[in-house]
Amino acid sequence: MALRYELIKECKQSGARLGKIHTKRGIIETPIFMPVGTQATVKTMTPEELKEIKSQIILSNTYHLYLRPGHELIKKAGGLHKFMNWDKPILTDSGGFQVFSLGDLRKISEEGVEFRSHLDGSKHFISPEKAVEIQNALGSDIMMVFDECAPYPADRDYVKNSLERTTRWAKRCKEAHKNIEDQNLFGIIQGGMYADLRKQSAEELLELDFPGYAVGGLSVGEPKPLMYEVLEHTTPLMPKNKPRYLMGVGSPDCLIEGAIRGIDMFDCVLPTRIARNGTAMTSQGKVVIKNAKYTEDFQGLDPECGCYTCRNYSKAYLRHLFKANEVLGLRLLSYHNLYFLLKLMEEIREAIKEDRLLDYRKSFFEKYGYDV
Ligand code: GUN
Ligand code: ZN
Repeated sequence: MALRYELIKECKQSGARLGKIHTKRGIIETPIFMPVGTQATVKTMTPEELKEIKSQIILSNTYHLYLRPGHELIKKAGGLHKFMNWDKPILTDSGGFQVFSLGDLRKISEEGVEFRSHLDGSKHFISPEKAVEIQNALGSDIMMVFDECAPYPADRDYVKNSLERTTRWAKRCKEAHKNIEDQNLFGIIQGGMYADLRKQSAEELLELDFPGYAVGGLSVGEPKPLMYEVLEHTTPLMPKNKPRYLMGVGSPDCLIEGAIRGIDMFDCVLPTRIARNGTAMTSQGKVVIKNAKYTEDFQGLDPECGCYTCRNYSKAYLRHLFKANEVLGLRLLSYHNLYFLLKLMEEIREAIKEDRLLDYRKSFFEKYGYDV
């Protein structure tokens, strides 16, 4: 069954959308944050733990799984869901963004991207058709088109050429994608920081009638106010009856600001990445757990959090685990940070339901601050 977006209501105070994405693997309540499982695992978390904290959908990466263990092997295993023991929806990114991040290791042409593996230096080629073939083999519920994400800053000509190529590649992806009943292919709007180019990209991609649309090319080093401005120009151009996904964004302030600007889906490695270097997101702002001031702090990480970590362990203990390089520390902080962001999304949905998302933003920022 192809997915269907149901718009439940718009927040009267902010315009944010409350919705449901109906998929063959269940319902996703939006706005939603998607934990990132780059290598077919959300680092340190079992699928049971992901369900315990109410993850509704996770993200994985075409580029990494193609290189290792290989999409053919995952297909043989019965698909990505079976391989990793996760039966809820999975979204796979196309590899475009990851391949472009390789810098000197890649060469772009109209046909696709030639690159060297970050693992062993071997040569590979990914075209739009190949990106679709890999995602078809993985069996993800939502696939992304193979796009080109322009760097920041980039001049107008560069960005225009890049978005026009992204449109041509999106067409090729759509033509190569045969499994449209089971897998939904989303378009990605590019156009850098240029409002008119965002409009051109959106118009070209809307003609291709994808079941959902992402905003790509943001959170690439531009100041946050600029990202919000671009979003303000872009989301009104996107269909009302389809999901809207802001790629690679997941700090608490950006999740709130993104929802206010009409975004339904987000993903980011931030919560799990900073957890592994010892930083927790809490209702009072961020906590760097190795800090000496927590040596004898026997209180939980976040007094307002009800997660497994906060119910059972003190900051002093967590600090000890990190100082001693114990793996449990990585797990407990990853668990808490994901719980924190999923709970934030739940509170955003509740605030939209009650037409008070701007009030919620104000009280959240007063407590949390703006930093990470
Ligand atoms: N992840 C973050 N930004 C992007 C983007 O622009 N394109 C793709 N494919 N993935 C992303
Ligand atoms: Zn917690």
